[in-house]
Amino acid sequence: MNPETVLARINVMQPWFGADEARALAEVVASGWVAQGPKVKHFEANFGTAHEVPHAVATSSCTAALHLALVVAGIGHGDDVVVPSLAFIAVANAVTYVGARPVFCDVEPSTGNATAETIRAALTLDTRAVIVVDQGGIPVDLDPIRELCDRHEITVIEDAASAVGSYYKGRPVGTGADLAVWSFHPSELVTTGEGGMLTTHRTDWAARARMLREHSRGLANVELQEAEPPPPDVFLEIGFNYRMTDLQAAVGIAQLRRLAQMVARRREIAAAYCAGLGSTKGLRLVSDPPHGTTNFQSFWIEVQPEFAISREVLLSRLADAGIGATRGVGAGHRQPAYRWRDTGNARLQRAELFADSTIVLPMYHELDTISINRVINTIRTAGNGVGR
Ligand SMILES: Cc1ncc(COP(=O)(O)O)c(C=O)c1O
Repeated sequence: MNPETVLARINVMQPWFGADEARALAEVVASGWVAQGPKVKHFEANFGTAHEVPHAVATSSCTAALHLALVVAGIGHGDDVVVPSLAFIAVANAVTYVGARPVFCDVEPSTGNATAETIRAALTLDTRAVIVVDQGGIPVDLDPIRELCDRHEITVIEDAASAVGSYYKGRPVGTGADLAVWSFHPSELVTTGEGGMLTTHRTDWAARARMLREHSRGLANVELQEAEPPPPDVFLEIGFNYRMTDLQAAVGIAQLRRLAQMVARRREIAAAYCAGLGSTKGLRLVSDPPHGTTNFQSFWIEVQPEFAISREVLLSRLADAGIGATRGVGAGHRQPAYRWRDTGNARLQRAELFADSTIVLPMYHELDTISINRVINTIRTAGNGVGR
């Protein structure tokens, strides 16, 4: 092939940075304070305001925030925590870290999210918490889940890792849960390279999470530096190093300012995919649920049996065309790490079907029209049986 005809590869996702992030980083470097400090505090305040919660605690990752959420909620040995099987493995892992048992529940097919019904089917006498996930950015239908959990005094943790900028009944996701956790991994809209956040309405939980993320030191690092003479180090309980750096937080502040633009652009791209692929036989496309709006962190399609080729063949067609599509999220209960563990007996057929039939298409802020059309045409050609 003539090298000039080789098309550029289209990534499945990529972050959107600009001069603001570079300037913010340079300022932090010049200040000499790069560890957790004033920028982290500033990022937490902005994030909390944007998400209508009084307390936001920045962490080194969403997995760390999940771990802290479970600790502050008092979850431990002998407790069961219901988690959707269709979720990134970190959700079940965090439950395992605290010595509790993850009990997998199924999802409903239109969103890929857990519902009050699928959670109810997985409850045990030992269920103390439920972690619901806004899978791929789609808001979970929280109100019926809250009603169920409140009746049984079960803590509701919302894993909004991918859902910054998504709304549930007109409010930002996460506000209705006891605790919510967020990710700033580069696969998310707002990224700090790595990073996470825990949000809550409870002052006591926020204070404990803040302390635990910093080795459970009686005084935060920044306060220690300022005190003269320095007080002795006191460690109140066994904590962790789950701090975010000021370098990360400075980027996060700049990224958060772009959030509305990011969501608007993703919704435009989603509309273009829907216009191009919506009438293709054998494909079902992700869409807003009746109870809210997604940020389209992921744009997935379900490849149904009526489609001309299988999901796996379509994936290789896309790869051959230089398009970085991936399989949708997997079912945790089928992973080797959980396969031989006791994780309850709930039926998980819909999670399995979802895991086996979905493909995540390229979706990122700077994805241009030519690339979007290339993705659409590759799928449409495959759907017409061409090149079978
Ligand atoms: C639902 C969910 N929870 C947690 C995580 C882990 O996030 P992090 O990489 O920030 O620890 C992810 C990552 O994709 C996720 O999708």
